[in-house]
Amino acid sequence: MKEKLEQLEKEINETLGNARTPEQLEEARIKYIGRKGVLTEMLKSIREVSSEERPYVGKKINELKRAVEEKIKTEKKIKLELNDEIKVTDKIAVKIDFSLPGSRYEIGSRHPLSQIIDEICNVFLGFGFRIVEGPEIETEYYNFTALNIPEDHPSRETFHTFFLDLPPQQHKKDKKDHKVLLRSQTSTVQIRIMENEKPPLQVIMPGKVYRPDATDASHSFMFHQVEGLMVDRDIKFSDLKGLLDSFCKEMFGRKTKTRFRPHYFPFTEPSAEVDVSCIICNGKGCRVCGKKGWLEILGAGMVNPKVFEAVGYPPEKWTGFAFGMGVERIAMLKWGINDIRIFFENDLRFLKQF
Ligand code: PHE
Repeated sequence: MKEKLEQLEKEINETLGNARTPEQLEEARIKYIGRKGVLTEMLKSIREVSSEERPYVGKKINELKRAVEEKIKTEKKIKLELNDEIKVTDKIAVKIDFSLPGSRYEIGSRHPLSQIIDEICNVFLGFGFRIVEGPEIETEYYNFTALNIPEDHPSRETFHTFFLDLPPQQHKKDKKDHKVLLRSQTSTVQIRIMENEKPPLQVIMPGKVYRPDATDASHSFMFHQVEGLMVDRDIKFSDLKGLLDSFCKEMFGRKTKTRFRPHYFPFTEPSAEVDVSCIICNGKGCRVCGKKGWLEILGAGMVNPKVFEAVGYPPEKWTGFAFGMGVERIAMLKWGINDIRIFFENDLRFLKQF
């Protein structure tokens, strides 16, 4: 009897181990623990077993019965879970239509003006300059007075606008009430840096400026400038010329020529406007340069001693130069763009080209 049971245990294990489908499992269940199953029948006829063997046989049969029940239970559970998973993936498969065109992720790029500002700044970083930024909301003191544009000076007129409804602010230097406005030039940052730091100074100052210009193809009430300032002992006009000539060659190409024309700015003396040989026609004369062969891109000059006085630098000790350029103008020349307004319209068809 004992051998018979061991034989049966082996058989049961094999049968259950090989059962792959729910049908095979059910078959095994019926065969061993069904109403007429092998184990059921054996239990029924337990009385026929000798009394010495009976406890062992009974125990063994029950053990086998339980083993079969357990096995069937866990197998069913696994099958159920598997089925669930299959159902879930079936649903997803229905939802995802792989033949549809995907939604594309657009990768943006820097605005063309930001690219030009970076390019300009990088050239000056290479010359040992550092980048400084100042506020767009300024007082008249920084926008005019400290830059040697006194109250009755006619050059205030052209920038006299965009005053803000904010309380006037006194400056410690002249104790006057100064109205608050949107800056019309980045030269304001020259004053701020010189008030806070001692020479030697070598800084470039990019930023937005605002002017009362009616908007057309070449004018905008808001545009960008990059300002430069260098202060040290014995800085000469020739240093300014050399630096700006090198800058223009870096920016527009080795063959670019520069020309300095006398000009007037209240905060520099002497002052100049700087032209580059037309980057479209190489100086031969074309529509872009108005047949002149030259394009104006910069204002520059030696820092006026009056400005040094305003910031508390002894003018006999320090000399320096300053310059300022319009970013939009340089961008327009570089890319052959003929309308400034396009930079600010946020038209993706334009922006995507950069
Ligand atoms: N601030 C001047 C302008 O806006 C440019 C300039 C800067 C000129 C520095 C000389 C020195 O036109």
